[in-house]
Amino acid sequence: MANNYIDVLKENNQEHLLKYLEMANEEQKQELINEIMDLDFKHIKELYSLSSRDNEKAIESCIIEHTKFVDKYKISEEEFNRYKNIGEEIIKNGEYAVVTMAGGQGTRLGHNGPKGTYILNVKPEPKSLFEILVDGIKRANSKYGITLNWYIMTSTENNDKTAQYFESKNYFGYPKDKIRFFEQGNLPLISEDGKLLVDENLHIKYAADGNGCIYKAMKKNGILDDMKSKNIKWIFIGSVDNALLNMVDPILLGLTVSEGNKIGSKSVVKRSPDEPVGVFCKKNSKPAVIEYTELPTEMASETDEEGELLFGESHIMCNLYSLEALEIISQNTLPYHSAHKKAPYLDENGNMIKVNKPNAYKYEAFIFDGFVFFDGISILRGRREEDFAPVKNAEGQDSPQTAVELYNNYWENNENGRM
Ligand code: UTP
Repeated sequence: MANNYIDVLKENNQEHLLKYLEMANEEQKQELINEIMDLDFKHIKELYSLSSRDNEKAIESCIIEHTKFVDKYKISEEEFNRYKNIGEEIIKNGEYAVVTMAGGQGTRLGHNGPKGTYILNVKPEPKSLFEILVDGIKRANSKYGITLNWYIMTSTENNDKTAQYFESKNYFGYPKDKIRFFEQGNLPLISEDGKLLVDENLHIKYAADGNGCIYKAMKKNGILDDMKSKNIKWIFIGSVDNALLNMVDPILLGLTVSEGNKIGSKSVVKRSPDEPVGVFCKKNSKPAVIEYTELPTEMASETDEEGELLFGESHIMCNLYSLEALEIISQNTLPYHSAHKKAPYLDENGNMIKVNKPNAYKYEAFIFDGFVFFDGISILRGRREEDFAPVKNAEGQDSPQTAVELYNNYWENNENGRM
C-alpha cells in the first residue's frame, strides 16, 4: 500500500493534484498533503461509479406499489380528536422536539448566505425563513405551555454564518439553551473525468453530504444522546425553506402513534402528474419515496376509481420519527445519489474557473432513504395552502414570490394560529 502522497495520487489517478502542490506555499502544501492522506479513495471510486449508473434501470428491478394515507380533512371528528389528544399529551409532556435541516447550499435560489437567512417580504413585516420557523415554534410553546428543544443542522460551509446570524438577532428571543446547532458531513466533488477538484485556497473541494446524512450527523454529534437524556421520544425533522412548515402537528403525531408506526410524514397532493416532486410509494414492500425522475410516466398518471393519482402524495420534508427510529436509521448506511452540478474550481494554472454548466458530480444521501428500515409509515395528507410554501427557485414556481403569497393568504385567514 502506498504510504507517501505521490504514490497515493498515482495509484488513484489523481496526479493532477501535484500541480497544485507546486503552486502552494509551505503551509498550504502541508495542509493539502494532509487532506490527500485523509481521503478514502476506495469510497471516492465507489461514489464516482454512481455517476454513470442508470437510475431507470435500478428502479426497474424494484416492485413499486402505491401506499395508503390518511386525509387530515376527511377523518371523522371523533378520530380527529382522538389523534389530537394523543399528540397533544406527548407534546405537553415535553417528549417532543423539532429539528431543522439547514445545511443545504440553496444553489437554485442563489442567495448569498445560509438559506434560512433569506428574507421573505411577508405581511405585516419582512421575515427571514429562520424567523418564520421561530414564530411557529413560539406559537406552539404558548399553546402547549412548553419550550421546545430546537436542533438545527448546518454544514461546514454555512455553520459559522448561521451561528452569527442567530447571535446577531439575539436568537429571536428564543431561550438560547433550547437551541442546539450541529454540523453535517462533507464529501468531495468529482469532475466528469473522475478528478478531485481544488478551491481557491488550495483545499480539496467538498460539499455537504445531503440531508439524508442527518441521521449519522445526529448520532455523531451526540444529538440522539442529548434527546434521550431529555426524555424526548418523538422528533419532527423539517426543511428550512418552507414558509408554511408546521413543525408541531398533533394530528400527525397522534396518527403515527395510533397506527403503531415509528415514522410518519405529511404529504400534499401533487399538482399534476408531471410535477417534479418525489412521491410516497412502497418499494419492495417498504415505505419509500420515488423521485419524479424515476417514476415511469404511465405510473405517474395512474388514477384510482375516484380519479385521484395513485402516486400523488408528495414528500414535503415534514417527517416524524420516534427516537428509536432515529437510532435504527443512524446505525445504517444510506445510499448516495449523484447530482450533476456547477462547481467553480481552480485550474492547474492557478486560475479560478467560473462555470456556466454542470461540470462536476456531487454526492448526497436523501432523508427519505431512511424509511426503508421500517415496515410502515403513517402518511397524513395535509393541504398545500396550509402546509407547503417552498422557496426553491429564484423566480417562477416555488420561489420567494409564490411562498409570500401562500404565507400571506394563510395567515390572513388564520390570525388565531394553527389548528
Ligand atoms: P434541497 O434538496 O431543496 O436543497 O434541500 P437546497 O440546498 O436547499 O437547494 P438546492 O438544491 O441547492 O437549490 C431540502 C432541505 O434539506 C436541507 C436544505 O437546507 C433544505 O432544508 N439540506 C439539503 C441539508 O440540510 N443538507 C444538505 O446537504 C442538503
